[in-house]
Amino acid sequence: MTRPGKQNGPTLYRVTIELSIENPCVPQTEADSSVRAVWDRLSVDATQSRDEPLIAGLVLDLVDGCDDLGESLARLAASRIATPEIGRHVLEKEIRAILVEQPHVLEAVAADLVVSFERNPAYPNYLVPYLFAKGFLGLQIHRVAHEMWNSGRVMAASFLQSRVSEVFAMDIHPAARVGSGILVDHATGIVVGETCVIGDGVSILQGVTLGGTGNEDGDRHPKIGSGVLLSAGSIVLGNVHVGDCSRVAAGSVVLHQVPPHTTVAGVPARVVRHHADSLVPAEQMDQEIDPGAE
Ligand SMILES: CC(C)(COP(=O)(O)OP(=O)(O)OC[C@H]1O[C@@H](n2cnc3c(N)ncnc32)[C@H](O)[C@@H]1OP(=O)(O)O)[C@@H](O)C(=O)NCCC(=O)NCCS
Repeated sequence: MTRPGKQNGPTLYRVTIELSIENPCVPQTEADSSVRAVWDRLSVDATQSRDEPLIAGLVLDLVDGCDDLGESLARLAASRIATPEIGRHVLEKEIRAILVEQPHVLEAVAADLVVSFERNPAYPNYLVPYLFAKGFLGLQIHRVAHEMWNSGRVMAASFLQSRVSEVFAMDIHPAARVGSGILVDHATGIVVGETCVIGDGVSILQGVTLGGTGNEDGDRHPKIGSGVLLSAGSIVLGNVHVGDCSRVAAGSVVLHQVPPHTTVAGVPARVVRHHADSLVPAEQMDQEIDPGAE
């Protein structure tokens, strides 16, 4: 089967949802999520972690020894995905260049880190998800790969994708568009297809597949609205739209459009609950929805 763009490099498919910061389903963070503010918080966390001898050298190299978030992230990412053939220094330089040229990437990185901290009560500070949460770092390397893909650097983007898959067990096609303020929790087994679009403020747990049915060509992957929670092991197949502020229950298989402000569950998934418009499931990482909010 011949797919569009196979011979001629990356195809940018037209997608059918708009991402908007005005959307009430985009969760609001309590903390300042500017790049500067996030870097300042990381630097404070690093200072407070110096007494732990096991990680003191790591923190010195990846945070204290850097001038800004871009330099630090480039060094962190390169240190995790370098290979004997494509070494740490060349990768660090390439990633850093993209972060400098495309400042919106770092803005998304900062927003992701803030929501990771706010939505996951297990994180004591910003530094833990920054250094140790593979879902966070894997997503940031995807953001860099996406910029490479969009500028026609298919082979470089594919290398980053393959290394994220090998090292973090999450496979996101570099063409996939991902909004900002995203929590990728646990991350193992996540697969996101080429023409997938993920809105702002989404939470994605382990084992989530956003894939094709195998019956469609072209624009064939799911479109996930803002503020959506994709629970563990949920599978969304085909060019279907999961509406804003909806929730896909654990282990469900979604084959049809999901209306906004609903929970769908089961195989195949069906609507099991309607939520109040004010409820943002992506923020409800304790999985509890106040019955009064139905
Ligand atoms: C969806 C979920 C949040 C429950 O939401 P809820 O609004 O409280 O829903 P309820 O438990 O009241 O269930 C409503 C109906 O959906 C069904 N249902 C709920 N979750 C389901 C699931 N994962 N698969 C199939 N059916 C499910 C219930 O059996 C119930 O059906 P019934 O009305 O016929 O009895 C929860 O089931 C879930 O999937 N949480 C995600 C947990 C997760 O991913 N954890 C990972 C942590 S690492």
